[in-house]
Amino acid sequence: MERLNLIRERVYDPVLRIIHLWIALLVLLLLLSGLIAKWIAFTPEAVMLWRYHTWLGYGLVLGLTARTTWALYGPMHAGWRQLWAGRAWLDALKNRTFFAAPTRFGLHPSETVIYLAFYLMAWLLALTGLALAAIAQGQGPLYAWLGHDVLLRPWFGVPHAVLEDGMLIFVVVHLMALIWHERRHGMPLAQAMVSGYQYRKDADV
Ligand code: HEM
Ligand code: HEM
Repeated sequence: MERLNLIRERVYDPVLRIIHLWIALLVLLLLLSGLIAKWIAFTPEAVMLWRYHTWLGYGLVLGLTARTTWALYGPMHAGWRQLWAGRAWLDALKNRTFFAAPTRFGLHPSETVIYLAFYLMAWLLALTGLALAAIAQGQGPLYAWLGHDVLLRPWFGVPHAVLEDGMLIFVVVHLMALIWHERRHGMPLAQAMVSGYQYRKDADV
């Protein structure tokens, strides 16, 4: 029977892990509140839920600002250079090796393109969400510019709704990819964003 020798390294710092948890929770709550409020539309409860949705949205803006700051000033494994892996994306596309075993500690290089797409979507949701807060609810930092200008609503509401689908797809793909990697490479991957430790097979042993 093959003996599995794993080496481990402390990769994700506590700040990054807290930001990841904060963003993950808020994205789930925003998805949930958005879906339920649409479902019970035109009721007083829906109006209240949209208010909560906006407050959760402010929380997401905070999380995204923290992540961007950490990408600029945080340690190596949280830095923006970890997220940009142009060479690895091209290789994965050319050789169709999206689920190859990781070749370094830190974020899986061929998957960082998906994380960048996530952050782009999340920022666009935040901007369109802040505009909707001003237009539909008369609140937030954009109120002075857009407050109650209902004619502008579709300009922000339609992209916001489309991006919501993108978020839903990201969450499903992210969780499935984590499970798939674990099963395929026999390594505890998902726990890395909780414990901070990442494992790899030790080729020399
Ligand atoms: C993961 C992020 C988010 C998701 C999945 C999401 C989802 C949704 C959905 C499904 C809608 C209904 C769109 C429609 O069909 O009309 C909506 C509306 C809205 N969202 Fe978000 N949203 C997110 C982030 C945000 C953020 C960051 C803010 C604000 C800071 C925000 C504020 C709003 C507002 C004000 C509305 C309109 C509510 C109303 O009609 O009173 N959302 N969102
Ligand atoms: C459901 C909402 C979730 C969202 C929106 C989300 C989002 C993200 C994002 C944006 C990254 C890139 C990290 C970075 O900024 O440097 C990431 C990485 C990661 N997440 Fe999540 N996440 C979610 C749930 C989870 C869960 C439940 C786990 C399991 C404990 C998890 C484990 C991980 C791991 C291990 C990585 C690094 C993967 C790699 O090496 O490529 N995530 N996640």
